[in-house]
Amino acid sequence: MAPRGRKQKREEYRAQLDQQNEEGLTELPRKKFYRQRAHANPFSDHNLKYPVNPEEMDWSTHYPAFLDEGEELHLQSEIPTTPTSDEQLSKPESKVVRPQKMRKQVEVADIGCGFGGLLFSLSPVLPDTLLLGMEIRVQVTDYVTDKIRAMRKQDATGNSYQNISCLRANAMKFLPNFFRKAQLSKMFFCFPDPHFKAKKHKQRIVSATLNSEYAYVLRPGGVVYTITDVKDLHEWMVQHFEAHAAFERVGAEEQEADPCVAIMRSDTEEGKKVERVKGDKYVALFRRVEDPEEPGYQGLGCEGGCEHAVCEEYGCDWMHEHLACAHPAGEGSVGAKGVSETSVTEAPASVEVSASVEE
Ligand SMILES: C[S@@+](CC[C@H](N)C(=O)[O-])C[C@H]1O[C@@H](n2cnc3c(N)ncnc32)[C@H](O)[C@@H]1O
Repeated sequence: MAPRGRKQKREEYRAQLDQQNEEGLTELPRKKFYRQRAHANPFSDHNLKYPVNPEEMDWSTHYPAFLDEGEELHLQSEIPTTPTSDEQLSKPESKVVRPQKMRKQVEVADIGCGFGGLLFSLSPVLPDTLLLGMEIRVQVTDYVTDKIRAMRKQDATGNSYQNISCLRANAMKFLPNFFRKAQLSKMFFCFPDPHFKAKKHKQRIVSATLNSEYAYVLRPGGVVYTITDVKDLHEWMVQHFEAHAAFERVGAEEQEADPCVAIMRSDTEEGKKVERVKGDKYVALFRRVEDPEEPGYQGLGCEGGCEHAVCEEYGCDWMHEHLACAHPAGEGSVGAKGVSETSVTEAPASVEVSASVEE
């Protein structure tokens, strides 16, 4: 008989763990049955499931202790059943299940959480906050999920580790599918894959474009935490966040006073590995700043001085610099005091400008 392959052993082990779980036993998963090649290509199609938008995401199976009062946990799929294939579409019973209401929303994301060390340590430090690990490797995600399940069961009070969860996702592609604008207060990037070669730099998880997505899901005042043992990557992350208008670097004193920083250094699996070989750890934090006001918006009205904050004629909700509100009776109508030469002499131009603003 052929020797049992690694895959088969893994499947047998998992089936046994599931069985024990059903019987109420709470053995922690063993990492050796969840090992997977270190790098997953963030550009390949991993057949990932993701919600069409954050409103469609059902968090109830991730954080059942945080279900809204009156809601009962239904063991439906954690990602809504949006039909994806012709076969599913043709099935009359396929329907979109509405997500269940939660008392809280996810506020902290650990991007590329690996085996979840940060999540387990932050859980008691932020007990009233929902934390989510996002991990692209399926086996690694399964390990964290199985460990959370076991740790929850091991806790006699039934309260511990209810606020952490993990899902398989490509954080470089689908963040805005999971999170609303300004939903998050903290994002962690702990020991991200360095992608050393210059031609692989585009695979790095920090870039000008991706930073705009992080700025979108982070609330003003929210913080991005980064740590790496690769100096070049540290400098790359500092350069890209400092160059981005939505971020400013957090000062050294504030950084070191933040309890999450010590945890990030000591409790991530990679942090422990670096510790063992006495390597360097480079830390940098960046605060999401408030967005500047839209150009030309005075908060009161148009540049022409009328009281209309909203352009009534064209419906745009702010006044472009040099553009007078076209309100017919208002002081700001074309030709009024303070209106620029352009808009005074070329009234139709204002129509063009507001049209382009609306686009
Ligand atoms: C070097 S490990 C660090 C793991 C963990 N943060 C730690 O400090 O121990 C980087 C992790 O990021 C994951 N990863 C890489 N690209 C990702 C992506 N686009 N989305 C989600 N996870 C990703 C990898 O699978 C890997 O587990």
